[in-house]
Amino acid sequence: MAIFPLLYSLILHITAAAEFSGPKRALDFIDPLIGTINGGHVFPGATLPFGMIKAGPDSDGETQGGFDSNSNVVRGFAHMHDSGTGGGSSMGNFPIFAHAGCPDDAVENCKFRKLERQSSWIKDSVKARPGYFAITLNNSISTEMTVTSRSALYKFTFPDKPFPNQNVPLSPLILVDLTDLSDTRRDGKAFVDPKTGRLTGSGSFNPSFGRGRYNLYFCMDFQGGDLRQAGIYVSNEQGVPTPLIITESKPDDGEHSVPLGAFARFHAPENNEMLVRVGTSFMSIDKACSNAEREQPDFDFDDTISAAEDAWSDKLDVVKVDSKGLHRDMEVIFWSGIYRTMISPQDYTGENPLWESDEPYYDSFYCIWDSFRSIHPLLTILDPRSQTLMIRTLIDVYRHEGWLPDCRMSLCKGFTQGGSNADVVLADAFVKGLPDIDWEAGYEALIKDAEVSPRDWDIEGRGGLESWKGLGYIPSDDKPPGIGLRTRSVSRTVEYAYNDFCIALLSKSLGHEDDYVKYTERARFWKNVYREDQPTSINGEDTGYVGCLQPRLTNGVWDYQDPIHCSPLLNQHSCYLNSDGGESYEGSLFMYTFYVPQDMASLITTLGGADAFTSRLDFLHESGLLYIGNEQAFLPVYQYHYAGRPALSAKRAHSYIPSHFNASLNGIPGNDDSGGMGSFLALAMMGLYPVAGQDVYLITPPFFKEVKIRNGVTGKVATVRNVNFDPEYEAVCIQSVKRDGEEWRRNWIGHDFFAEGGLLEIVLGKEESEWGTREEDLPPSLSTGGF
Ligand SMILES: *[C@@H]1O[C@H](CO)[C@@H](O)[C@H](O)[C@H]1NC(C)=O
Ligand SMILES: *[C@@H]1O[C@H](CO)[C@@H](O)[C@H](O)[C@H]1NC(C)=O
Repeated sequence: MAIFPLLYSLILHITAAAEFSGPKRALDFIDPLIGTINGGHVFPGATLPFGMIKAGPDSDGETQGGFDSNSNVVRGFAHMHDSGTGGGSSMGNFPIFAHAGCPDDAVENCKFRKLERQSSWIKDSVKARPGYFAITLNNSISTEMTVTSRSALYKFTFPDKPFPNQNVPLSPLILVDLTDLSDTRRDGKAFVDPKTGRLTGSGSFNPSFGRGRYNLYFCMDFQGGDLRQAGIYVSNEQGVPTPLIITESKPDDGEHSVPLGAFARFHAPENNEMLVRVGTSFMSIDKACSNAEREQPDFDFDDTISAAEDAWSDKLDVVKVDSKGLHRDMEVIFWSGIYRTMISPQDYTGENPLWESDEPYYDSFYCIWDSFRSIHPLLTILDPRSQTLMIRTLIDVYRHEGWLPDCRMSLCKGFTQGGSNADVVLADAFVKGLPDIDWEAGYEALIKDAEVSPRDWDIEGRGGLESWKGLGYIPSDDKPPGIGLRTRSVSRTVEYAYNDFCIALLSKSLGHEDDYVKYTERARFWKNVYREDQPTSINGEDTGYVGCLQPRLTNGVWDYQDPIHCSPLLNQHSCYLNSDGGESYEGSLFMYTFYVPQDMASLITTLGGADAFTSRLDFLHESGLLYIGNEQAFLPVYQYHYAGRPALSAKRAHSYIPSHFNASLNGIPGNDDSGGMGSFLALAMMGLYPVAGQDVYLITPPFFKEVKIRNGVTGKVATVRNVNFDPEYEAVCIQSVKRDGEEWRRNWIGHDFFAEGGLLEIVLGKEESEWGTREEDLPPSLSTGGF
């Protein structure tokens, strides 16, 4: 699968199909397996856009998304997953597994436990495309799966004989196991209807990166062979699973209160095929059954696939690209990136047992620290209606739980990584004018983040607001009331500053003048952790760049953290959520020094002017200090715009794509984080890169000759067209731009371009030009009066 870089650039200009690609073609380019090895943690199975049900195999190896393409064995097929997460393995509840028969045709000889039943899978049997996944195990059983929003449909195809060397008849046993990927189940019941074989049950589980527990219910029905027997299996005194056949005409009454699972056995089915329909629900078993019955009354496998494909086509239909002259892989990575961005958050509307509300409920915001930067801005362009529903969800979470989430999965509060970055997501929607949002409640939620420290700031809000308000930074020796990790003092400081800036944008428009003054003041607090005489060095060798963010004590005295600590060059993995996690979350202070999106003009002056800034930014990218596989690395790709060097942003983007984002199984440089990497890639290739939270897109040339995007709310089409397009990407410097025929010299553009549509014509050349370089061409900054 992997192609050597040199070869890659040679084949880039071999012409692929040249026509303008429409939605039907787009599906053919999507490869859900990209990022299923080496830490991508992508879920490759079957799902609808934002679907609750995600059916896929669960393997050994890296199981965050269920399946690792480098794994050896499959342990089951589960219906609930998350994609790309960096925390523990998420969900994977109630996996099912099929045996073609049991040794000696005796049910007690079948293997029930995960580690006993696990089977190798046939390497080239995997087929993955939107709404469909297939794999064959070494027991010669092929499993295909597809989904609706609340149910999965599996098709098992069995060999004629269960065991090549035994004369046992084909008699499929299909079991469901009351576990999840991380084996966190407590409680739980399994019920059997011995007449129909319907299996139902429940369990209580842990979220993968948060606090609390959630209950989940399932309902399983079969079609294919005639029912032979059904039952549950329980643990005997030696801990060995023991099948209990249930023959009573009434369903098992749950007397065996904590069983391990349930099963049904069948006589040989026609065509050796069995269909298994699984509904799930967070509400009840009845709801799990009605979900499945409503969405898949007919067990129609092919129809379900085509409905899933239609759902994906509808989502992708809003984008068209002209890929003339490009290698096919450039479209593969583009469409697959968009696809991954739409796997989560998951639409659980009607499935939230926590409160009653007429508002939508989306879940798996996993996590907003990752998603605010590129996922939500991309959804705002491609699917503003869904983005609106997500914003309304966040506000409804605030109404009922008192706080906007910073991370949320499986109905539970996830861990906070930095500031309260839902503030950025809300501001982004506000400045881009998304309709039908209760901004009064939204504003109230933002003010709460800015003003009230929660009792436990590991799961919501911001800790240390006393210091924030009083000192203007989070001290490294901060001792705030409440519970929460007292780490990340510097990265939290710069994130709080940006969060408050985002709130100020709403204050201004909503007429809260005093708040505007207060929050723009706080937006300048990043400077309080900037130490101007701080030298920086790598392996004892001075970089020449003086001045860097540094931790500071409560008494104002500087504390110290090596500016490159937690970069790939020094202790890269020491800045996570642990009590000795350092002062900069998942990255170095050298990198965090660039995080002043609200006032890049002031940062550039602080760092010694445009040339010094540009040189330092080059150094960040070229020294090895920056890890492009983590989301804080995205904006620095484009920050050359603020120094009047937009061509360098374009060149920098090409230095990462496709070398770090490509169509191979390991084509994602880090955890995809529910589409974080995919959305960055798609935005970069579309050419207009959003500064999340602001009405600002930085203009670079698309990677295609032309990109068209239809706005889902207004129906208007925005076209970005490259003139003198060079498929070898040697000419990526913008010479001039016309917007609807008029000269456009600013190196940025607002969301009105997407909302109202229009044509942006970009003339390209090989050399940097004067375009977008003047003071008045630069994107807005707080200190230069831009906001
Ligand atoms: C299938 O794979 C499992 C796990 O590697 C192994 O234990 C089992 O013997 C294999 N079965 C067959 C039929 O090859
Ligand atoms: C594809 O991307 C991965 C992850 O960033 C990278 O390790 C690999 O070298 C890239 N492959 C090619 C051919 O560029």
